Amino acid sequence: MSRTPFRTLCKQTGGNATGINDTLWESVFMKALRGEKTPYPPVWLMRQAGRYMAEYRAVREGKTFLDMCHNADIATEVTVYARNRIGADAAIIFADILLILDHLGMDLTFGAGHGPKLNPPIRCAADLDRLGDPIQAAADCSYVCDAVRMTREQLPEDIPLIGFSGAPFTLAAYACEGGGSRQFPHTHSLMYNDPASWHKLQEKLVPGLTAYLNSQIKAGAQAIQIFDSWVGILSSADYREFVLPHMKTLIDGIVDGIPVIYFGTNTGHLLSDMQESGCDCLGVDNNTDLVSAWENLGGSDTLSIQGNLDPALLLAPKERLLAATDKLLASVGDRPGWIFNLGHGVFKETNVNNVIDLIKHIQKRD
Ligand code: CP3
Repeated sequence: MSRTPFRTLCKQTGGNATGINDTLWESVFMKALRGEKTPYPPVWLMRQAGRYMAEYRAVREGKTFLDMCHNADIATEVTVYARNRIGADAAIIFADILLILDHLGMDLTFGAGHGPKLNPPIRCAADLDRLGDPIQAAADCSYVCDAVRMTREQLPEDIPLIGFSGAPFTLAAYACEGGGSRQFPHTHSLMYNDPASWHKLQEKLVPGLTAYLNSQIKAGAQAIQIFDSWVGILSSADYREFVLPHMKTLIDGIVDGIPVIYFGTNTGHLLSDMQESGCDCLGVDNNTDLVSAWENLGGSDTLSIQGNLDPALLLAPKERLLAATDKLLASVGDRPGWIFNLGHGVFKETNVNNVIDLIKHIQKRD
């Protein structure tokens, strides 16, 4: 399989390259991914469906987060409700990057007060043998695809739906640490001391992720985001040795006609390496200057960019929030191909009215 980059395909075909309906094709979000001018930058927020929203907390009551993910009706309800409440220009399916690790045979739990835990962790070659078949693991995530199908039916017809997965690096990092980490010592240790096992782990994850993402596309997703949240801990040299070849294989295996957004945090030093993955849009966090990063990568003629308002600003008074937003809007100016987002997910302490005000302001509806 060999994927044609989204913009190249659009140029070659001269029109709707995805087979999606014209209303979705003409949406501001899809236009920005093609690098076309839009009246305002399309906006959606990472973690737009989450604990900051009272209605989410009400649905969550008495259930675990995993119960919610496993139930396609609930995942659909939460996705559609959040998008409609805040008026975002795209929806992202409610799920989690770690689900596929559970189906590979790692026991995934989200305990109260601490982040995700995966047991037992992957630390050596023998641990790898315990992991199940990646294609089967992708198939076992079919409840996510059911939710994609139902969400596509229930969303307004001009609102694209984003499917997603974790990147093989970030998933491997969770698998090696057995959960979240600050310094990722076990991840580095496996990479440096047993590179063959590291690459084998990547080669286990990539076919599963490819199948999983293509199933989400088949079920109705118009775009894909790959979350490589913690890849910024690597040097450029390590990224190129341990990560880039696997990211290329993953993106190359995604079907033609669906744009791929690739996001990580603290990646200012890695963006040009990440661009080589073949992604169509790079997500940048708020520690990076969006415009200078974009210019360095070739600017809006070359690729689309997504980001990067500091999510902490949603905790500030409206004047401060909108002043910072205006500064970002002014810095980008009328460059086409920009998707407005936060530099990372919405904090759970955020007031939903600030989110609504932010989105209205970007869409010039206030
Ligand atoms: O963005 C969205 O609204 C779509 C749904 C989504 C979730 N997680 C829902 C979620 C997406 C895209 C993710 C991705 C994800 N999950 C990432 C990559 C993005 C990032 O933040 O860098 C990562 C690293 C994870 C793993 C994960 N899941 C963590 C670290 C946590 C937080 C644990 C905690 O207790 O705070 C989760 C839980 C999670 N994923 C929640 C939601 C809404 C909160 C669950 C709850 O308690 O209700």
